[in-house]
Amino acid sequence: MNHTLLLIFFLSASLAGTLAAEDRALYLDPAQPREARVEDLLRRMTLEEKVTLLHGDSKFTTAAIPRLRIPRRWMSDGPHGVREDIGPDTWQPAGHTDDFSTCMPAQIALASTWDPALAQKEGEVIGQEALARGKQIMLGPGVNILRTPLGGRTFEYLGEDPWLTGRMAVGYIRGVQSQGVASCVKHFAANNQEWDRMSINVEMDERALREIYLPAFKAAVQEAGVLAVMGAYNEFRGQHCCENAYLLKDILKGEWGFENMVISDWGGTHDTREAALNGLDLEMGTEKPYAEYYLAGAYLAGLRSGQYPMAGLDDKVRRNLRVMIATHMFDQYPKGSLNTAAHQAVARRVAERGMVLLKNEKAALPLNLSQIHSLAIIGENAVIKQAHGGESSGIKAFYEVTPLEGIIHRAGKHATVTYARGYGADAGPEVTEQAVRAAQQADVAIVFAGLGHDEFRDTEGSDRKDLKLPNGQGELISKVRQANPRTIVVLVTGSPVQMDPWLAAVPAVLEAWYSGMEGGSAVARVLFGDVNPSGKLPCTFPKRLEDSPAHALGAYPGTNGTERYAEGLLVGYRYFDTKEIEPLFAFGHGLSYTQFEYSNLKLAKGQGKALETVTFDLANTGKRTGAEVAQVYIHQSNPRLPRPFKELKGFKKVTLEAGEHQTISIPLETGAFAFYDPAQKGWVTENGGFEILVGSSSRDIRLQGKLTLDQSVPAAH
Ligand code: BGC
Repeated sequence: MNHTLLLIFFLSASLAGTLAAEDRALYLDPAQPREARVEDLLRRMTLEEKVTLLHGDSKFTTAAIPRLRIPRRWMSDGPHGVREDIGPDTWQPAGHTDDFSTCMPAQIALASTWDPALAQKEGEVIGQEALARGKQIMLGPGVNILRTPLGGRTFEYLGEDPWLTGRMAVGYIRGVQSQGVASCVKHFAANNQEWDRMSINVEMDERALREIYLPAFKAAVQEAGVLAVMGAYNEFRGQHCCENAYLLKDILKGEWGFENMVISDWGGTHDTREAALNGLDLEMGTEKPYAEYYLAGAYLAGLRSGQYPMAGLDDKVRRNLRVMIATHMFDQYPKGSLNTAAHQAVARRVAERGMVLLKNEKAALPLNLSQIHSLAIIGENAVIKQAHGGESSGIKAFYEVTPLEGIIHRAGKHATVTYARGYGADAGPEVTEQAVRAAQQADVAIVFAGLGHDEFRDTEGSDRKDLKLPNGQGELISKVRQANPRTIVVLVTGSPVQMDPWLAAVPAVLEAWYSGMEGGSAVARVLFGDVNPSGKLPCTFPKRLEDSPAHALGAYPGTNGTERYAEGLLVGYRYFDTKEIEPLFAFGHGLSYTQFEYSNLKLAKGQGKALETVTFDLANTGKRTGAEVAQVYIHQSNPRLPRPFKELKGFKKVTLEAGEHQTISIPLETGAFAFYDPAQKGWVTENGGFEILVGSSSRDIRLQGKLTLDQSVPAAH
């Protein structure tokens, strides 16, 4: 044997030896407990390999470590489906032909369903599609609270209420993670606007932080066991959120006991020392060569020189490994599925259950096709495809049914359907005229008005400039209404819009949101009465921007790079109710084609975790099957610290047939009565009087009862 052959022989023998050893390695055995697998793998890793796991090696991956059979790890946006493939090294689409996915309605539409079980179903679909697309971490849901209706990403979040947001997020995350895919809840924390999002420094009082902006994250961690948390771009109290010691170390990992990983937002890391020491576990998207990421070369050098402790490194690696193990990276990887009929059905169901009937005078809706011979469909929002828009949450959908297509499909055999664009950035008066003519000649006119995902609309990267519908849509609606009194307005928006002067003149308005790839079918089914609308607003629609708290107080968009949340706890309906300002449409509002009656409220000591149980009867007194979201708010009579006038603490969506009634029980746990006391650094529940308000919206309270808590509960995190 010559020398070269001998060398090859020894090399392959030793490689075979390593592989054989890895074959038997404990961390590769799915039957072993997770922590044992983590420790076993950690112990085998070199310093360099450990650092490799802490930063990206393309826009959405971290590097493989073949020696240890660690595969490349893939992440994807989120939250409306599995995003098309990007990069690898730029933000441009990769140009693949197999990166389509099912497109769900925007998250604000999901929130409007008030149906956590449906959120879980949606999560399951997204988890299955992530598996089929080879992704281990899905970047969503987004749970930032709607603080200003102008926020560009309002459509991507779950509304203005911490309880509703938390319930929907927990359902969604459980669904995704049930498939062995990690959910990454984002953006932690206080990322409530797009204006100056990379640098704005947010200042708020501790109660607002704890009671409004953090609860959904806490629920994601403690109830859903979320596997990843994404830091926000902005600063919080002077420190970038992805490197924020208070948020990440003290609260998330300390108080809440979060054991999984913190991922930076893409380009949200700014400093090696802060990233190393303040709780970041994975750096993504920095605009630098990968080797120069803050948690790459510079961190490695600092570890070698003793500047950073090895224990800190091991902690980060453990957290990464936990998620890798939980997402089957060392086991048989489940196959998943894409765009099945069942997935499409979930997309349609979310769209149908999320649409909100804002106004319906004299039963203008549903439209009865046995009495209607012609329909004029007006507006470019009837034909624009929305799925791909809005930046990171955009989806390359397998298909997208537009409202016009949905209506033609549903009604085309029964009625003549004409279409007129009516408005648009480049539209002249002859367009308007065409729309008015079409409306005059039709039995019913349906105007699809909306915002879309362009800059300064419903999009990542910029906020809206005002609450108006753009491109003269308001004027067009008024003209169409003059031409045809049976004018229905359907809104295709992801955030509240102003509706003067036309609202009073039109008989019906439906908020359809961006309703995903089955949206056109869903809107047709709602308009023609195949589906009885049951969505409720997850946010207040103000009459005017100046009525909205952050704007009323001049606390948006900040001065000299800092934004003080002057409204404190009084976000959304908490402000409108406490200050007695009439909203255009209240939080929790949404009509049905049937009617519901509430009666027989009983308050009783709860069982198990419930401190109190709220029980009442709900009856469907109309002529159709329908679903109602019964909402429970509390009002504390004489709180030691000021509280909002009312706070949502429970809800239930119930489907009842015509004439059916049901007794509903909603438990209120200790936390429902608690507020955060900064002096005690914890949540306290005080003895004393509370009013329990049960209603069909925050402004349509149907039952009220009083109770006295006589059981002091010690402060808790
Ligand atoms: C967004 C995140 C998103 C990430 C990756 C960022 O600009 O803020 O929500 O997950 O990009 O696309």
